[in-house]
Amino acid sequence: MARTLVVGNWKMHGSRQMVAESLAVLSAAAPDLAGVGVAVCPPFPYLQQAAALLAGGPVRLGAQNLAVEPSGAFTGEVSGPMLRDVGCHYVIVGHSERRALFGEDDRLVAQKFRAAHLAGLQPILCVGELLAQREAGDTERVIASQLDAVLALCGDQALADAVIAYEPVWAIGTGKVATPEQAQAVHRFIRQRVGRGDATPTILYGGSVKPDNAAGLFAQGDVDGGLIGGASLVPEQFLSICRAALS
Ligand code: 13P
Repeated sequence: MARTLVVGNWKMHGSRQMVAESLAVLSAAAPDLAGVGVAVCPPFPYLQQAAALLAGGPVRLGAQNLAVEPSGAFTGEVSGPMLRDVGCHYVIVGHSERRALFGEDDRLVAQKFRAAHLAGLQPILCVGELLAQREAGDTERVIASQLDAVLALCGDQALADAVIAYEPVWAIGTGKVATPEQAQAVHRFIRQRVGRGDATPTILYGGSVKPDNAAGLFAQGDVDGGLIGGASLVPEQFLSICRAALS
């Protein structure tokens, strides 16, 4: 079965030149990728340029963060309605770098999830455990509390058809990818916890996904695609991961 979604999270990387070059390569290859959703999340200053380059094509645009409030005196913040206004479809919320480096706790992440919905954006909710938590056998408890914070604020159905990215923190930017079996086990757990009736979430795996390990991960029954960091900065690598999602 074709996987459903591959998203590139560029983090704080890029330039106008890189946006132009990368998106030209992606757009040219996009017709061969019908069957898998593809999206890129460049830094805020490049969103408008990216939106213009992607307009009318199948590759969707996302942002990496948003404010809780829609507007107001919040110096330095960028709101959901602004992201929608410049052409974003997705927004990442709760990335582990935001949780660890910018003090975003489960409640704030849940508020951002709600703000994204209110603005008409599709949030990509990131969850994942630290290495010490995995080693202590706490993985499911940690993931459950991250999911439950969103359910508590946004309602019991809020994640039933959401996009959720399982990103074990120990696998992000480390080259230490989760095994396909480790990813599958957590994805299954997430699906069982938040699915409701026929509604089921799209669950992406993130953390050191590369062209040579993508197919093994995507072959798992509950892995619906990937959230790609470093490899999304190299168009050929990102495309190769997107192609792995097709097979
Ligand atoms: P890497 O693919 O660089 O490990 O990053 C994963 C990630 O954090 C995507 O959001």
